[in-house]
Amino acid sequence: QSYDMGGHDTYMHKEISEQPDAVDRVLRGRIDDRFATVRLDGLNLDAREARGVRRVKILGCGSAYHAGLIGAQLIEELARVPADAEPASEFRYRNPVVDPDTLYIAVSQSGETYDTLAAVQELRRKGARVLGVVNVVGSAIARETDGGVYVHAGPEVCVVSTKCFTNTAVAFALLALHLGRIRDLSVADGRRIIAGLRRLPGQIAEILEREEEIAKLAAEYADARSMMFVGRVRGYPVAREASLKLKEVSYIHAEAYPASELKHGPLALIEPAVPTVAVLPEDELLEKNRATLEEVRARGGRILAVAHSEQEKADRTIVVPRNEVELDPILMGVPLQLLAYRTALALGRDIDKPRNLAKSVTVE
Ligand code: AGP
Repeated sequence: QSYDMGGHDTYMHKEISEQPDAVDRVLRGRIDDRFATVRLDGLNLDAREARGVRRVKILGCGSAYHAGLIGAQLIEELARVPADAEPASEFRYRNPVVDPDTLYIAVSQSGETYDTLAAVQELRRKGARVLGVVNVVGSAIARETDGGVYVHAGPEVCVVSTKCFTNTAVAFALLALHLGRIRDLSVADGRRIIAGLRRLPGQIAEILEREEEIAKLAAEYADARSMMFVGRVRGYPVAREASLKLKEVSYIHAEAYPASELKHGPLALIEPAVPTVAVLPEDELLEKNRATLEEVRARGGRILAVAHSEQEKADRTIVVPRNEVELDPILMGVPLQLLAYRTALALGRDIDKPRNLAKSVTVE
């Protein structure tokens, strides 16, 4: 299928640029301001059933799995239900214990990824309730799940997922808010998160305006032999996704690690040819993260920080606007999409069709 490039040189750039509108679309018509609640019509899960959920397990592959990691954190934070994410491609092969009080959620842009679909089918065979967080309406995963949330990112053509990743994370924020308001999230906190969600499109647009600045950073780091992406808790899924994106589109080797794990081994890799990208939400872990930057610096590592203010321990900082801290993972991923894109451009890569990859992996 081909779509108009709308004046952009690549679909990746077009899709990154579309994010303010895409986020607006996933929010539209779903928020009830009177009660600070969320309406998710296709969810097919009433309030009594939602209260009975004891755990949430999110399954997806690649970027969808990473969006699920953000989703699991949001569900734990806002709804206080234990939640985790696992690659669907692992889950389906390990004869998982299927628990009747667990809500399973399959995440997929295409809705056709074979490993994710196979996980859904295995769960359904074992009597589990499975929801979908899916972009393509009427796709196989949308059809085979009991209900769910459409991500409304619009068609995503570039093999590398950008706008769908962001919209999926926003869809999870809505779901977490919905589950939270049915359980113990206060009206005041509900309103705070809703206001934060509404600020996202404008703030993403602000980040996109800084593309030339990010292009300069990309040129500086394009000679890297490998790159290390680190973050703690809220920052870690962002680091995972940014590392995948850089690998996919620029072919620079990258690793993502929890910042706290660096000292348990990967610090051995740090040297000037292996720069570190640190994702630094302004939460209670900021000081700990700064200490990690110090450790990297002491080993001669170059550091690029993504933060809400200039970081003196970093060589360079991409400053992103402040929002509610729970939503930082959504916002902080955006400049790193541009970093991957501009690095690939600087290296002359085939951006929309990276080697060896397909947009959706419909085979085993
Ligand atoms: C995205 O950058 C990748 N091409 C890939 O990881 C993708 O997210 C994964 O294959 C899952 O695809 P899906 O969302 O269509 O299920």
